[in-house]
Amino acid sequence: MKVTAISVFPEYFSPLELSLIGKARTQSLIDFRSINLRDYTADNHHSVDGTPYGGGAGMVMMAEPWGKAIDSILEKDEEIDLIILSPAGSKFNQRRAEQLSRASHLVFACGRYEGIDARVGDYYRGVKGVRVHEISIGDYVLNGGEVAALVIIEAVSRLIPGVIGNPASLDEESHNEVGALEYPTFTKPAKWRDLDVPEVLLSGNHGQIKKWRQEEAKRRSNLSQ
Ligand code: ADE
Repeated sequence: MKVTAISVFPEYFSPLELSLIGKARTQSLIDFRSINLRDYTADNHHSVDGTPYGGGAGMVMMAEPWGKAIDSILEKDEEIDLIILSPAGSKFNQRRAEQLSRASHLVFACGRYEGIDARVGDYYRGVKGVRVHEISIGDYVLNGGEVAALVIIEAVSRLIPGVIGNPASLDEESHNEVGALEYPTFTKPAKWRDLDVPEVLLSGNHGQIKKWRQEEAKRRSNLSQ
């Protein structure tokens, strides 16, 4: 899968060199590239923002640098999923991660300030081969879309075949079924600071263990609602 992040802070994406995603990149399972929005500006100051029409606090990112940056991607790839990060977008979840994991090229538009001129999304919604998704990672406001893009890239990458060493671990995972959080897990030693591992897990009775895990997962899901 190709992944491109457009940002005024491409350095934000250096953690993608680490751990499983870093390895997936060396194995060419993920082809990640960040591009600097300022490279697509036309003035000496490399301006990317302007005051909002209609007034109000803060600055808005101008459409033209985004248009040029996204067009440069479309020159090489005609099919992209364009993800515009915004606290006003639809809420990201595991279903959306699964949907995006089937894409061939994810392009993240990481806005800063008060967001990106709304015409960017409107324009690309009308371009053949481009699917536009406006996504929020939660009901809070970040300084920009970069951290949100990192969250989505991590959730999506681990669903790409070959990225996770043991694909069976994906099946048992939290959020695989709506509302079902994963059961609690334990490892050695069996007693730690007076706390014992639940007896059933030491019993070797796989039927009982499965039942206990299902009940615990259900209990946790109810607690978190
Ligand atoms: N940009 C600022 N806040 C955000 C959020 N919660 N989700 C996605 N992008 C954002």
